[in-house]
Amino acid sequence: MISATADEPLHVLDLPQLYEKPSGTDLVKALALLSLQPRTFGTSADVVKGPAVQPAGVTRYLTSIISSPLAWLETDELREAIWDAAAARLSERSGRAAMPAMSRIFNVPTSSGEEYTLTLHEPSLTADNLGMKTWVSSYLLSRRLHNLLESPPQLVPTASTDPSTSKTETPLRALELGAGTGLVGLSFAALQGKSATIHLTDLPEIVPNLAHNAALNVELLNRTGATVTTGVLDWSVTPSPLPSAEERFDVILAADPLYSPSHPKLLVDTIAPWLSHGRDARVVTEMPLRDAYLPQVQEFRRRMGELGLAVVEEGEEVGYDDWESADGGALAVKCWWSIWGWTEKV
Ligand SMILES: C[S@@+](CC[C@H](N)C(=O)[O-])C[C@H]1O[C@@H](n2cnc3c(N)ncnc32)[C@H](O)[C@@H]1O
Repeated sequence: MISATADEPLHVLDLPQLYEKPSGTDLVKALALLSLQPRTFGTSADVVKGPAVQPAGVTRYLTSIISSPLAWLETDELREAIWDAAAARLSERSGRAAMPAMSRIFNVPTSSGEEYTLTLHEPSLTADNLGMKTWVSSYLLSRRLHNLLESPPQLVPTASTDPSTSKTETPLRALELGAGTGLVGLSFAALQGKSATIHLTDLPEIVPNLAHNAALNVELLNRTGATVTTGVLDWSVTPSPLPSAEERFDVILAADPLYSPSHPKLLVDTIAPWLSHGRDARVVTEMPLRDAYLPQVQEFRRRMGELGLAVVEEGEEVGYDDWESADGGALAVKCWWSIWGWTEKV
C-alpha cells in the first residue's frame, strides 16, 4: 500500500514499478499522489507542506508509464485513463502555463468573521491570455476588501453625501478593469450585496470565462443580493461617446493590471473617463512589486497624480505565487495595495 506523510515524502522507487506489472488501481493511486495542486497564495502552511513524493525521478517515472503499452491491464479504457493521468501529471510539472483547466475554491473573509466561498473556473492557459488564471494580488485584495470597504473614509455612493438622503441611497456603482477570472469583483459583489452593483470587464477572449464564473457563483450572489454584469472593456479603445456623469463609476477596482510598458498609460487613461467625479469616488488597486515591472508601477503612480488622484491609503503585503519555483520552493511576492481619491472635486 502506498502512503505518505507531509514530513516524509515517498521516493519514486516506493511507487509501483512497471516491471512488477502493478494493477491498474495501484497505478491510479500512485498517479493521484503525484498530482500537483496549485498553492493557495497566502497560507504559509501550504507553502511549507512538501510534495507527497520527492521530485527526483518523477518525470522519468511518468514518461515510462506513457511509453509503456501497459499490456497486462485488462481493458483499453483503463490503459487510456492511466496514460491520460500520467500525461496530466507531466504537464503539471511543466508549470502553470501547461496546466489543464481546473476549478478552484476561494474563501473571502467578511467583516462578521464568516467566509464566503467562491468557485472559479480557470481554463488552460495560453501565453497571451493571462486573465484565464487567478493571480496572487487579486487573492490578497479579495481578502482585504471587507476591511478596505469599512475603514474610513467610507466608500459611499455619491448620491448619499446629503445626510437627509442617506437612507434612500442609490447603490454604489463599481467597475472592475482586467477582471480575469473575477475573484476581486465577485468578492466585492458578495460583500456589498444590495448596496452596490458591479460590472466586471476584460478583453473579449477573457469575458466568456468571466461570465461563466459569475454564473457559477449565482447562488452566493443571489443570497447576498449582489448585482453583477460582465462585458468587454478594452483599455486601448477610447469610449465614444465619453461616459455621461450617470454612467461613470463610484469605485474602480484593478488587480495585477500592469505587465507591459503600455499598461500604465492605458489604465490611467481608462480610469479618467470612467471614474465618477464625486468626492467619494475611489480607485482600489493591488499589484505585485516584481522588479521587472517596478518602472510601470512608478509610472502608474505618476500618471494617477497627474490626473488629480492621490493615495488615500496604501500598504504592502506578501503573498505566495500559487506555482512553485523551479527548485520546488514557494515564490514570495511583495504586493502593493492602494486606494485613491480625487485631490479636489473635479
Ligand atoms: C495579470 S492578469 C490579472 C487578472 C486578474 N485581475 C487577477 O489579478 O487575477 C491582467 C488582466 O488584464 C487584462 N488586460 C490586459 N490588457 C488589457 C486591455 N487592453 N484591456 C482590458 N483588459 C486588459 C488581461 O486580459 C488580464 O485579465
